[in-house]
Amino acid sequence: MSHSPILAPSLLAGDHAALGDSAAVVPAHGLKWLHLDIMDGHFVPNLTFGPEIVAALRRRPELVETFFDTHLMLDEPHRYIEAFANAGSNLISVHIEPDYDHRATLAKIRELGCQNGIVLNPDTPTTAVQTLLPWVDLVLVMTVQPGFGGQSFREDTLDKMATLHRWREENGYGYRLEVDGGVDLTTGPKCRAQGVDTFVAGTAFFKAADRPAFAEAVEQW
Ligand code: DX5
Ligand code: ZN
Repeated sequence: MSHSPILAPSLLAGDHAALGDSAAVVPAHGLKWLHLDIMDGHFVPNLTFGPEIVAALRRRPELVETFFDTHLMLDEPHRYIEAFANAGSNLISVHIEPDYDHRATLAKIRELGCQNGIVLNPDTPTTAVQTLLPWVDLVLVMTVQPGFGGQSFREDTLDKMATLHRWREENGYGYRLEVDGGVDLTTGPKCRAQGVDTFVAGTAFFKAADRPAFAEAVEQW
């Protein structure tokens, strides 16, 4: 199954004193997905924003149709999925690394009316998520260690994308394959060549000299 490329700009690279305006830039460029990075200061050494802000973004008229791709970088994500679903998330992705009931949490995300996603850090092997693949809408391969925007893309993650794409083809799974971290005009096409279809970009989108050109380029990948 092949999906056409989607660009999901990460609000982490936007102006945090004007998050609503920064988020509204995304549909203004004709883009459907917005990536929201939620950090707890435990699973990753940084803090961002919580469900109240996501709910406030959802209330912005410009964002009514925008797909909220919510990436939870939390030690205990199962405690917060209801709050982020109620806040208006369309997809909620959770990391494989912390110890909680992954399968039940992924099922619960769907019960709450959202799509679900499972996320792997750069040093986590693909086998860690293998048994969950029939039950997910998206697999996110981190291409940097999560916590901060603006880091360099890790080339050693490309093989994992190829494996996850191959497993998708061999088994007829329907998940989207997403990458996050250091994705730009050079690294994005390398991921696309491995079968990736969903591209998170913080710095490369928000700090681009020519955002429409960047968004158009991704469509051609
Ligand atoms: C990192 C976050 C990313 C981040 C990517 O922990 O998960 O979504 O915003 O930023 P760039 O594209 O600048 O590497
Ligand atoms: Zn992210």
